[in-house]
Amino acid sequence: MKPSSKSEHISELRSKVVTSGYSSGTSCYVESAKGALVRDVDGREFIDFAGGIGVMNVGHSHPKVVAAIKDQAEKFTHTCFMVLPYEAAVLLAEKLCAVTPGSFTKAAVFVNSGAEAVENAVKIARYYTKRTAIITFENAFHGRTLLTMSLTSKVKPYKFGFGPFAPEIYRMPYAYCYRCPFGLKYPSCNVACADYLSEFFISHVAAETTAALIAEPVQGEGGFVTPPPEYFPKLIKICHDNGIVFIDDEIQSGMGRTGKMFAVNHWKVEPDLVTVAKSLAAGMPLSAVIGRKEVMDAVHPSGVGGTYGGNPVACRAALAVLDIIEEENLLQRAEALGKKLRERFDTLQKEYELIGDVRGMGAMLALELVKDRETKEPAAEEAKALVKFCFEKGLILLSCGNFGNVIRTLMPLVITDEDLERGLAIMEEGLLALQK
Ligand SMILES: Cc1ncc(COP(=O)(O)O)c(C=O)c1O
Repeated sequence: MKPSSKSEHISELRSKVVTSGYSSGTSCYVESAKGALVRDVDGREFIDFAGGIGVMNVGHSHPKVVAAIKDQAEKFTHTCFMVLPYEAAVLLAEKLCAVTPGSFTKAAVFVNSGAEAVENAVKIARYYTKRTAIITFENAFHGRTLLTMSLTSKVKPYKFGFGPFAPEIYRMPYAYCYRCPFGLKYPSCNVACADYLSEFFISHVAAETTAALIAEPVQGEGGFVTPPPEYFPKLIKICHDNGIVFIDDEIQSGMGRTGKMFAVNHWKVEPDLVTVAKSLAAGMPLSAVIGRKEVMDAVHPSGVGGTYGGNPVACRAALAVLDIIEEENLLQRAEALGKKLRERFDTLQKEYELIGDVRGMGAMLALELVKDRETKEPAAEEAKALVKFCFEKGLILLSCGNFGNVIRTLMPLVITDEDLERGLAIMEEGLLALQK
């Protein structure tokens, strides 16, 4: 059959020249995007609740970001910071050191992707502690490179067939209250999952050989799993009592998404190293590790870096992003969006048996779908059907979770109330269709 639309035409060519392992969740091809709206090559408009997987907190094609990119591109696009440095990267490091949690002196390094930031955080923690083991969590997602894939929990599609994995990685259960791995209930559990770290040193890996523990405060791909308030204070104390570096992976939860600049701020703790990427530079490939200067500076010159790390165009975009977050009060906006979403999702949960749990923080909220509220059997096909229904009605939605049964919200924080309403109405229509 001859392709009837431009998207189908591109799709046909794609199937010949783009490897099938590099797949897409949707079948439309983007022509332009603005704020929280995306238009495809066939003129269809979509409300974007995905933001390119949590990358567009300031919205698509924000005029300030576009202007910064254009201005920098006209001056120069690359010299390599390790050969000929430039001011934008230094100014960005200064700003990031100021906004990341921790009352101590900090320093930053720039690389390109989330996975690369995590790789470097691990390298730095190992160098500083002269230890090798890394503790990670069930449901964690840290990337697709060998080390970060090894840190990641979900087997299919991220790990299956790609072993052997990097050594010296040890996995703990996480504070997944809805499906407590210890079979307990909060708060009577006393957050035993955090205390378990002390036992983990006996049964899995010695504290003396552990360089770092890495956690996403609100797990992203893992299903927006959000630990209780006592969790991180307890966990970090055990880490620090044992000379272990605490790495806070804020790649998905950072840059204002949860109503604070970083999700870990909600727990009022001070991580030693923080990794950021995604919404840092509004789609320009840029990531960073920011942390205690003494830990960061332990590494010898040229021990970390890379050809493109801290690209000047990306740094200028990130500087614009930080200005926008402040000038447009996006932290307050994320909190307000979160309140709206929470109210709406709580109401939906009362109406639709399918919604087993509503969780998350700020504008990082999720619905966990279950076939049965008693057995909590994951409703993965239903989540998939909901995403498909919404796409057909003009809403881009993402699922996540180890079972693929969680629907998450990562819309640009600048979304208008009207577009938010339209998107939520489509979601509700989809839930109703599923219930029939
Ligand atoms: C928490 C977290 N860490 C790391 C990564 C990897 O980032 P990237 O895809 O830029 O390598 C992701 C990506 O989804 C993430 O959500």
